Amino acid sequence: MSCSSSASQRLISVSERLAGLRAARRLSTEKIITKQKNLSATASSPIKSPHIPRHSFSSPVAFYIAAMDYQPFPNFATTAIHVGSEPDPNGSGAVVPPISLSTTFKQAAPGQFNGFDYSRSGNPTRNGLEETLAALENGKYGLCFSSGLGAMTTIIHLLTAGDEIISMNDMYGGSNRYFRHVASKDGLKVKLVDCTDPVKVKAALTERTRLVWLETPTNPTMRVVDIQTVSDLVHAYNKDIIVVVDNTFMSSYFQRPLDLGADITHHSLTKYMNGHSDVVMGCAVLHDEALYKRLKFLQNSIGAVPSAFDCFLVSRGLKTLHIRMREHMSSGLAVARFLEQHPCVEKVLHPGLKSHPQYELMKKQCRGGYSGVFSFYIKGELQEAREFLKNLKIFTLAESLGGYESLAEHPGIMTHASVPENERATLGISDTLIRLSVGLETVEDLIADIDQALRTAVFQKSDDDHHGSAKAAL
Ligand SMILES: Cc1ncc(COP(=O)(O)O)c(C=O)c1O
Repeated sequence: MSCSSSASQRLISVSERLAGLRAARRLSTEKIITKQKNLSATASSPIKSPHIPRHSFSSPVAFYIAAMDYQPFPNFATTAIHVGSEPDPNGSGAVVPPISLSTTFKQAAPGQFNGFDYSRSGNPTRNGLEETLAALENGKYGLCFSSGLGAMTTIIHLLTAGDEIISMNDMYGGSNRYFRHVASKDGLKVKLVDCTDPVKVKAALTERTRLVWLETPTNPTMRVVDIQTVSDLVHAYNKDIIVVVDNTFMSSYFQRPLDLGADITHHSLTKYMNGHSDVVMGCAVLHDEALYKRLKFLQNSIGAVPSAFDCFLVSRGLKTLHIRMREHMSSGLAVARFLEQHPCVEKVLHPGLKSHPQYELMKKQCRGGYSGVFSFYIKGELQEAREFLKNLKIFTLAESLGGYESLAEHPGIMTHASVPENERATLGISDTLIRLSVGLETVEDLIADIDQALRTAVFQKSDDDHHGSAKAAL
């Protein structure tokens, strides 16, 4: 397929979504024509950041931010802003659709209702968000859950005792804990393998394999899984094996697993997608209707659903996702580059840096884009890591990531404490590993904060040690 025909196909799919909503929500014809004209204007040419001469900038950091090149998905922002949140369909024309808080819905006669009967089964605000999420992942169906782990648990309920799951040895600690201590107690066999190596995935497949759960880049060591290669080899072995990709770290803005052959995209919406650190929620997005029906049944039957108010907040967050992600990317890269040349830093793990072994794969898979989360090793030992975290003034020491505020954490003690110690050691989750989520504050302030905390932790401690050992020698 040529570039222009795939671009026009994408345009058609966004236009189709808008057209469907038009019918359902009575958009005026005039507005639709304007939207479609706008979409046509942008669909044909991928957006690249313009070349701006270096002398226009006051600082090297500012220059670096403007000079990056990446290719966002066409129509992303228009889709995020319009699909799933058309003006109030019920007459008022409110541009922001009202939040539907009602838990129950009037029936004209027993069993005769207008799309909604009870809010666990379906809710207008949640439906709108599910529509937006499906569109942003280029999928057909979206389903929301009360948390990322709630989404995961519901997906795993597609399986029955005796089935096998292949997952990662390097992933979010809570997912690891769920597989080890919950799913495997329910009669499911879970193999945790290094999915960054397709040969190892192939070797782990058996007749009982029903699901492959990937996370890329991995949390917290930033290894990259080749989604297309792994999905292809799994489906070649057995087309019915469900490939799920946890897309939390990249958000829909930079990575679309369904386009790369996965069957389900999973998110902890708690992170970048909501982006404001005030909602815990998860989702699954997929193409296949039969699989969707099974998951929708489980969503209602298990009942791990989010509140309408939280759905409204996530909908609102998604409208600025494209702007936030660009800023997270540029600030994250600026901080990572700063750390790479810092005397108190051993190594930086950031797939957007050329020093990362999978830089080229990451660039191809994520269209040259990357989020603001990455890790690094501080020089020294646990004490230096602790001192660094204690001395940060703008970064907050806290779990989670993807919000507007910058966070720092110690995976070994915090998010990945539930991973057995020997496995942490194998994966490189050592005492000196620190994970950052670079937020939206002024990047020069973030760099200054990190610099002072590093110098205090490494150099001052060395001074103390030096004085200590000098004293001891007397
Ligand atoms: C990559 C990843 N997946 C899943 C989750 C779980 O999501 P939630 O906390 O929304 O249940 C997290 C949480 O930190 C995560 O980082």
